Amino acid sequence: MAGEMNRILVIGATGQIGSELVSSLREKYGDDSVIGTYNTTEPTGDLLDGPTVRLNVLEEERIGDLIEEYGVDSVFHLAAILSAKGETDPQLAFRVNVMGTFNVLEVGRKFQLNRVVIPSSIGVFGPEVPRKKAPNETVLRPTSMYGVTKVTGELLGNYYFNKYGLDVRGARFPGVISYKTLPGGGTTDYAVEAFYKAIEEGHYSFFVREDTRLPLMYMPDCTRALIELAEADLEDLNYHADYNISSLSFSAKDLAEAIKERIPDFTFEFNPDERQRIADSWPDSMDDSPAREDWGWEPRYGLEKMTEDMIERLEEKLD
Ligand code: SER
Repeated sequence: MAGEMNRILVIGATGQIGSELVSSLREKYGDDSVIGTYNTTEPTGDLLDGPTVRLNVLEEERIGDLIEEYGVDSVFHLAAILSAKGETDPQLAFRVNVMGTFNVLEVGRKFQLNRVVIPSSIGVFGPEVPRKKAPNETVLRPTSMYGVTKVTGELLGNYYFNKYGLDVRGARFPGVISYKTLPGGGTTDYAVEAFYKAIEEGHYSFFVREDTRLPLMYMPDCTRALIELAEADLEDLNYHADYNISSLSFSAKDLAEAIKERIPDFTFEFNPDERQRIADSWPDSMDDSPAREDWGWEPRYGLEKMTEDMIERLEEKLD
């Protein structure tokens, strides 16, 4: 039986996923039981309802100090350089993503943490995998530095589980769509930008081709997946750091049309840039049957429901 999660450290709390995961975890575990850390982006809003501290994930000793200071037993490690930014500075991506993950795992081992959750990504896949329903078990030869670092993170996570019994868990997340905090430096960012631009300017120039179809997911499904995976019974898990997890799959044009149905004056065009190459190296969708069978994963948002909710919430926010 896995140890319980009582005091949780969320590394990368001001990022797109972190800022919403902290709120969801605090609702469940209490404000003071969830410590958020940030590095370059200062925390604002409800992130300040509980402990929030600065941490550079490259400083292993400081991670250990925080674990001791706050009596932390579980860590969600979300700090990462995403795919497009990783191609502009591959060395930085390697340092933050690989060394950061290594430091978190080392601290997990030394402090015998109950749980370490590290999201992986569709970025682990390369052009050889089947486009449709990429299997959980398949060849992983990513062509981006981001993908290389994410495969490394998965392998390290599984290694720490097998070698040291550290309960490391992770899933390969699709691109995440949300309205609270903007993503930064990712290839799937177009799926968020399109909503902002549609509402603010009535026009969006997609940086991918119209037929670009990728796995995507709405934030409420993403935070719920992370928490459900973290809370699952260890005995039920046949994978550890590398579950495929699927939700939506639509083309850039499908998204543009779904937005236009609700914002009729919205106009759009497609001007692919260097990020197209990364998008083309990823599959359209993933087969997530192990996640469904082992810990009961099931998405709740389809394209229509997500689009409707995004527009409603963003209109409120940008008003
Ligand atoms: N959203 C990420 C990216 O585009 C994929 O994990 O880099």
